[in-house]
Amino acid sequence: MKNSLKKDIRLGVNIDHVATLRNARKENFPSPIKAAELALQSGADSITAHLREDRRHINDNDIEEISFNFPGKLNLEMAATEEMLTIAQKIKPFSCCIVPEKREEVTTEGGLDVLNNYKKLEPMIEKLKHAGVRTTLFIDPDDSQLDSCYNLQIDCAEIHTGSLCRHYEKMDNKFDFEFKKIRSFSEKLFSNGIEAHAGHGLNYETTKIVSTVNEIKELNIGFFIIAESIFHGLEKSIINIKEAMIEGRSLREK
Ligand code: PXP
Repeated sequence: MKNSLKKDIRLGVNIDHVATLRNARKENFPSPIKAAELALQSGADSITAHLREDRRHINDNDIEEISFNFPGKLNLEMAATEEMLTIAQKIKPFSCCIVPEKREEVTTEGGLDVLNNYKKLEPMIEKLKHAGVRTTLFIDPDDSQLDSCYNLQIDCAEIHTGSLCRHYEKMDNKFDFEFKKIRSFSEKLFSNGIEAHAGHGLNYETTKIVSTVNEIKELNIGFFIIAESIFHGLEKSIINIKEAMIEGRSLREK
């Protein structure tokens, strides 16, 4: 049973914050490449890395090395810019997740406004598909975005779980509402042929909760795993998060 559940939901480990630590001291360690290798050995299904416009953590060389050393494992997060599209066309990661990006933000604050960026996204999606890259958009679970996602024929949509996680932390009455919104949004994506993913702000508890949603097939988790690894090591933290995913999946069946 556990093996079939394992295959039913995948984990992408985001290694941006290994690079954040490296860059804080302008050293060449800790190495995001070494972290990616250990993450894959510890059960991660893919490696997520966000090449930001300001290169504040992951840089171009990191992306090239991850792609070269771990073929078929890189999920490249990037803004919808010509510069990033050119890099993606050259690197050809197995997957590209397009995210909104603001220079002044600490982390990705919200989902993409697909509706209002349709004209910019359409040719990008087409070019990425042409390069054989899996296309994903990072979006809030907001129904007004759905028609644009269907029309763009993206492969996957990653649902921003930041709001759910904040409400979980506060234990307020909006948590239930947020969760139901994510569940129903995932079902809609699934019935329209788009694979649902989720990520942002997830910890052990929220990972378990989100994993109960049958239609969600991939989680991308970074900050919590890297933070946990200070105390427990990267391998153990990944094993623990995978356990939380499997536990969530098994709850679903009761
Ligand atoms: N998914 C996307 C699209 C993101 O932008 C991020 C943050 O870089 C994550 C997942 C991971 O979020 P966190 O680091 O909070 O786990």
